[in-house]
Amino acid sequence: MALVPAAGQGVRLGESMPKAFVPIGGSPMLTLAVDGLIASGVVDHIVIMVPAELIERAGALVADRNSVSVVAGGAERIDSVRAGLAAAPQATHILVHDAARALTPPSLIARVVAALRTGQRAVVPGLPVTDTVKSVDAHGVVTGTPDRGGLRAIQTPQGFEAQLLREAYALDLPATDDAGLVERLGARVHVIPGDPMAFKITTPLDLRLADELLADRPAARAVAR
Ligand code: CTP
Ligand code: MG
Repeated sequence: MALVPAAGQGVRLGESMPKAFVPIGGSPMLTLAVDGLIASGVVDHIVIMVPAELIERAGALVADRNSVSVVAGGAERIDSVRAGLAAAPQATHILVHDAARALTPPSLIARVVAALRTGQRAVVPGLPVTDTVKSVDAHGVVTGTPDRGGLRAIQTPQGFEAQLLREAYALDLPATDDAGLVERLGARVHVIPGDPMAFKITTPLDLRLADELLADRPAARAVAR
């Protein structure tokens, strides 16, 4: 089963509606993300977390899709995932997949699940980092330059054995991604090759790129209709 965090406001995108409802090629990001999960053929149930006042609208967007439910998210992404976990039916494995990664190829989703099926308990897609990354202090002074070769930019879907993810969320610690919580349990998290198309739509530039990419992709345009 999959949880889709879609309850953010999209402040950095700066559109007039919460980000997951912003259309790309005529289709809201949350619909594209859900259809990608369905198209992967490896997800049986989907729970979407949206702002409380938009539950009805989100329900209407996915009304004709089987096994998709909608619940209210929370103030932070971590709160939204926790709300989704509470609403999740019995499942042995759980994917967590950002609505904001609306163009994620179904093949990447299938690869995450394939890695879970080999017995991995936590699997995340990641890409090599192309920029040099530096740590800085509060004054903007560089404190270090980690070896880029050992860094990965992490995407979603992130896949977990359900029990492990529930234990991680029971820790009630801050983290910027789901795997970060699982790491705090001391569990091993495996990185598999990510996909550039799974980029997170965060800024207006990202949205322009997503619009262009979707216009070039006949299959995706068909889904968008
Ligand atoms: N998200 C969520 N609940 C929140 C915050 C974020 O479900 N309280 C979701 C977003 O909807 C998005 C994903 O988590 O699909 C990744 O978050 P991000 O890209 O930061 O989206 P927003 O929080 O909407 O954007 P911003 O931070 O610019 O406001
Ligand atoms: Mg955010």
